[in-house]
Amino acid sequence: MSTIPVGILGATGMVGQQFIALLADHPWFRVTWLGASQRSEGKPYREAAAWRLQAPPADGVADLTVDAATPGRAPKLVFSGLDSSVAGEIEAAFAQAGHIVVSNSRNYRMDATVPLMIPEINADHLQLLEAQAKAGWKGRIVTNPNCAAVVLAMALAPLRRFGLKTTIVTTLQAISGAGYPGVASWDILGNIIPFIGGGEEEKIETETQKILGCLNAGRIDFHPVTISAQTTRVGVQNGHTVSASVGFDHRPSVEAIVDAWRSFKGRPQELELPSAPADPIVYLSEPNRPQPTLDVDRGRGMTVSVGRLRRCPVLDYKFIALGHNTIRGAAGAAILNAELMHKEGLL
Ligand SMILES: NC(=O)c1ccc[n+]([C@@H]2O[C@H](COP(=O)([O-])OP(=O)(O)OC[C@H]3O[C@@H](n4cnc5c(N)ncnc54)[C@H](OP(=O)(O)O)[C@@H]3O)[C@@H](O)[C@H]2O)c1
Repeated sequence: MSTIPVGILGATGMVGQQFIALLADHPWFRVTWLGASQRSEGKPYREAAAWRLQAPPADGVADLTVDAATPGRAPKLVFSGLDSSVAGEIEAAFAQAGHIVVSNSRNYRMDATVPLMIPEINADHLQLLEAQAKAGWKGRIVTNPNCAAVVLAMALAPLRRFGLKTTIVTTLQAISGAGYPGVASWDILGNIIPFIGGGEEEKIETETQKILGCLNAGRIDFHPVTISAQTTRVGVQNGHTVSASVGFDHRPSVEAIVDAWRSFKGRPQELELPSAPADPIVYLSEPNRPQPTLDVDRGRGMTVSVGRLRRCPVLDYKFIALGHNTIRGAAGAAILNAELMHKEGLL
């Protein structure tokens, strides 16, 4: 039974569309409200959105009229896929009006009182919400990470036990990560763009440290791993690939690392949350995997695929990881956060 009404801010965008697709058959959440910019306001959703996903939106949602992105008519729980240029102000207005905002945008991720969640890794970081209550917020803001930081953080989380010290990473990021219409075809066809704006490299470096950090007396102690990131945009439709080298205090064996990845589970699997993949990480032993076209949809887009683990002559090991940027890196991640909050009695 779908019992909890939810709204979507930025419903017309790439991430907003994934929200609608993933929530179509959700056992707990039912989409009742859609918000976007003045460009879309007042139009039926099917006219307002340039729908890019294969299966069309369900009639019940496609017929909803898009509302202004202002609090008032939306249900208490609101997912946000707003453009970051406006998310700061709009999400704050919703939180001040008493909404629980589960956001994809970068604006509040590094705020000391805002949980930056990957529930398999840091479900306990939800306790930061107590600081929002103490600060007198009527509503709450919870965030999920940058779409490339998710892939890296998932691959690194099981390696913390080996004294993870250093990471050098280069990303190959899909065009869907730039929203729609995103990067001009003239720029991306047959090309690689060695720059992603909006502080992408810094986000990967700092967000990963916060995600992997420990909750200590109501605040997060960041993980001490040093990360150096370079980001590129490539002509792939969906799926961010990460090429990483890692250094440890004491180098573990290949078998120990693969076992750490394959046995990795977290609170979502324990609670059997509806969006939780059975295996948050799969290790693929074929020498030419993971690949976006073959592996990005694993675990309904919620599994991170890792492969090519081998010795690195500079640091200790190197490997490749891949994750779905608009599902595990965006809408699916936010829905998993809301499912965890529901199970923990926080909605
Ligand atoms: N794409 C990814 O892989 C990904 C992954 C993780 C996080 N994110 C983050 O998620 C957010 C959305 O990304 P996206 O790729 O879905 O972007 P997008 O396709 O450009 O969509 C942006 C959304 O924001 C709305 N919007 C823009 N200006 C607005 C305004 N002034 N008032 C109200 N709504 C406004 C747009 O509505 P209109 O259609 O009406 O203009 C649209 O619904 C961004 O913050 C992005 O950084 C994206």
